[in-house]
Amino acid sequence: MKKIALITGANSGIGLATALDLARTGVTVCLACRNMAKAEEARQQILQAVPTATVELYQLDLASFDSIHAMVDAFKQNHKCLDVLINNAGTVALKQQFTQDGFEMQFGVNYLGPFLLTHLLLPLLEAAVPVSGEARIIHVASIAHMLGQLNQASFRGETPYSSVGAYAQSKLGNLMFNFALARRLPKGVTTQAFHPGGVDSEIWRDLPRLVYLLLRLFLISPERAGIMAVDLAVGSAHKGETGGYYSVQWPRPISRIARDLNKQNWLYDKSCELAGITGLNAVVHQKEKPLLATSTDVHF
Ligand SMILES: NC(=O)c1ccc[n+]([C@@H]2O[C@H](COP(=O)([O-])OP(=O)(O)OC[C@H]3O[C@@H](n4cnc5c(N)ncnc54)[C@H](OP(=O)(O)O)[C@@H]3O)[C@@H](O)[C@H]2O)c1
Repeated sequence: MKKIALITGANSGIGLATALDLARTGVTVCLACRNMAKAEEARQQILQAVPTATVELYQLDLASFDSIHAMVDAFKQNHKCLDVLINNAGTVALKQQFTQDGFEMQFGVNYLGPFLLTHLLLPLLEAAVPVSGEARIIHVASIAHMLGQLNQASFRGETPYSSVGAYAQSKLGNLMFNFALARRLPKGVTTQAFHPGGVDSEIWRDLPRLVYLLLRLFLISPERAGIMAVDLAVGSAHKGETGGYYSVQWPRPISRIARDLNKQNWLYDKSCELAGITGLNAVVHQKEKPLLATSTDVHF
């Protein structure tokens, strides 16, 4: 049976490159995008490159809990299980904005929305294990987490706004969620995070033109980042491995806050409360490979 992968923010950049590469491997790709016109363009692009691909579209706005619930309901109408979830979608908000549920936009879209989505999809990921032997969750994190602090007051924008600070906090959240989740997932479901490198994508669209042109000299292609996403999603070398953090480009530091077990657990519990869900209890599966894999090799 064909594996099924759901990729958020799959209409551009790293998400599109990942979806395209996954389609080449024969996986059914489900593009979860907020703009359906862009999603349809992405589907056509994938079908042009891989005419035999199966590509499904789902509407998803991570800035709205209602939209996240509705997307999962729509997905459940079509599928009983999910093999791969790639939490890729992300945003950079230069000016302070808020999600529909009142959270600071970058915290909400880059971190809390994917946190909720992952938990809602977990029963389907678990259902894939008896069929495929495993299910995988991948988080597109960032080296920017190194600048991140956990500031509870900023979750709802109650502190002076810093775009860089808010982005860094959201990416710190991605990494801490990955580590906390690895201790909680049911057997057979794994979680991995990676830094895609500095990637030439739409995420830089609001930067002043000159700054972007200078920055671009140092950026890599979305396709290069997509190779690692696909490797982590379906590569045989990563089977059974959980709680790893990889990077397409060196260095691959992990901040002290990200490593802090108590802070990981605090953020996990707090996020459950904010997202209105019941969390998972921490467990350790002895047979799984150790947490914090350190390789940067791509094995696909
Ligand atoms: N580019 C880099 O150098 C870099 C470095 C480290 C980490 N990352 C991470 O890589 C991931 C992908 O980014 P990218 O560089 O490929 O940028 P991108 O081309 O801008 O892709 C971001 C995707 O996220 C979607 N998105 C934004 N807000 C959303 C929302 N509210 N609901 C649902 N989807 C939403 C975008 O949809 P629209 O097209 O509708 O806006 C787009 O599809 C992000 O998590 C980013 O933080 C990127």
